[in-house]
Amino acid sequence: MAPRKLAAGNWKMNGTLASLAEVDALLSAHPAPGCDLLLCPPAVLVHAMAQRAQGSALKVGGQDCHANASGAHTGDIAAAELADVGASHVILGHSERRADHGETDAQVAAKAIAAHQAGLVAIICVGETETQRDAGQTLDVIAAQLAGSVPDCATAANTVIAYEPVWAIGTGRTPTNDQIAEVHALMRDKLSARFADGADFTLLYGGSVKPGNAAEIFAIPHVEGALVGGASLKASDFGPIVAAL
Ligand code: G3P
Repeated sequence: MAPRKLAAGNWKMNGTLASLAEVDALLSAHPAPGCDLLLCPPAVLVHAMAQRAQGSALKVGGQDCHANASGAHTGDIAAAELADVGASHVILGHSERRADHGETDAQVAAKAIAAHQAGLVAIICVGETETQRDAGQTLDVIAAQLAGSVPDCATAANTVIAYEPVWAIGTGRTPTNDQIAEVHALMRDKLSARFADGADFTLLYGGSVKPGNAAEIFAIPHVEGALVGGASLKASDFGPIVAAL
């Protein structure tokens, strides 16, 4: 089995019920995309977006979940709760959560296990800071994050890995094609060494993906799609990215 291709949008803390008009626009422009299609809106919009997407190619995901199945965790959301309102995926370990909430690799792995138990696909994010890249530590950082954040129960069916260099997120800067290729080749090697189906995991690139650079990025070996932030908010931007995959 070859890795599935996935165009995923991360709305982060953006969007309202009115923004769901973008879903209609996206689906009417791309009713049968040639790849898996996913949008991850803020948690309060997951249910409404999933209802809006019913019967279409669009899947809906959360942006985080708790490692526990339920309980006294005010403000947190369980993976099963996301699944209950129609989510199929959840983004975990995004660098913004690692930075804003101090999430560690071990916590991300625990959340991924919870996601799998709830039947969700975990999109586990890894990525180096600019300081780490300048210090020549990128490959070590990615290898360590992969080893620590991806649990042993991961399979190509329940886990997607997203490489998001922190310095490329929302900045308009992207790594060179060679830099992306180097990290994706490392991720493929590490996953293949650890998991029987490591060759089949979908590997996404994320960080300033736009309609203008998507095709070039998708041509890089071991890039099976993108995790798109700002350019996923408008169907007019996200649509061409989906079409390029
Ligand atoms: O998760 C997606 C992301 O962090 C990339 O954001 O706005 O650079 O596409 P952006």
